[in-house]
Amino acid sequence: MNRQKIIIDTDPGIDDAMAIHYAFAHPHLEVMGLTTIFGNVFVEQATRNALFLTEQAKQHIPVSEGAKQPLRMPPNPPSHYVHGDEGFGTMPAPNPTRKPDPRPAHVFLSETIRAHSGEIILCPVGPLTNIAKLLEYDAEIIHHVKKLVIMGGAVDCAGNVSAYAEANIWNDPDAADMVFAADWPITLIGLDVTSQITCEAKDFHQITATAPVIGGFLEQIASFYIDFYHSIMSRHVCLLHDPAALVSVTNPSAFGYEEIPLEVIIHGEAIGATRPVDHRRPVQVAKSVDPETVRKIFLDICGQCDRIF
Ligand code: BDR
Ligand code: CA
Repeated sequence: MNRQKIIIDTDPGIDDAMAIHYAFAHPHLEVMGLTTIFGNVFVEQATRNALFLTEQAKQHIPVSEGAKQPLRMPPNPPSHYVHGDEGFGTMPAPNPTRKPDPRPAHVFLSETIRAHSGEIILCPVGPLTNIAKLLEYDAEIIHHVKKLVIMGGAVDCAGNVSAYAEANIWNDPDAADMVFAADWPITLIGLDVTSQITCEAKDFHQITATAPVIGGFLEQIASFYIDFYHSIMSRHVCLLHDPAALVSVTNPSAFGYEEIPLEVIIHGEAIGATRPVDHRRPVQVAKSVDPETVRKIFLDICGQCDRIF
């Protein structure tokens, strides 16, 4: 069977690591590369962490470094309180031996997507700066991407960094608005659905039972993430934001969608909000989810993470 080719644009990050290992372990996905972006951590940390994840899973794929900062506004500080100082909870900085691809992320994306025209799903799970730079660098790329599946936004619900905005969109609203304005197919997996998808410590323990190496790593970093969510939600759970985007690639029917043209508010109190607008190509927005199904799929696949050895 032909595996679905994907590239993940990422700021690892605890839930990014979960999403990436899910993708590596999934028998129907072929990860063609990772591109990195500032957000949860500085971009240099994101690149180092992404290289570490590829080494853990013995995936000899390119990791290409992207933007250090948003298109126009100054960068927000990294969210170390959510993901830890180095991105993986209390884990010290990893020290991978692999080196990044020499190309900047937008060049790597353009060349790789064109080399497999119509075949690659681009899955950004961080701020959208690299994707906006890709559009600036290669406007015709919209005809070569199969589709984008983006983790971001809060269309019909409250944000997580302000009353209005979700973190990935808020970290570069100008870039996000450019991406929604372009004429390419987008599926948006935002807080409308990801805030319903939870995992507990015992779920990660279950992953470790069948995948002691990578599952054990995910269990270790999840504990920091669960402590963060406990501090804001008073529940011993974490939300599976970035994994949900990957599950929507492999199991789209776990979600219900509405076609909504979107813009991003780029100034003022509501900066980073994702709002319906007229006269744009509609985005396929996930508005409902079967959270139990997504959780089970995630646990099942991550429970096989060590099988690649
Ligand atoms: C998003 O922001 C980041 O903290 C997470 O990795 C996820 O991509 C959730 O709002
Ligand atoms: Ca992320």
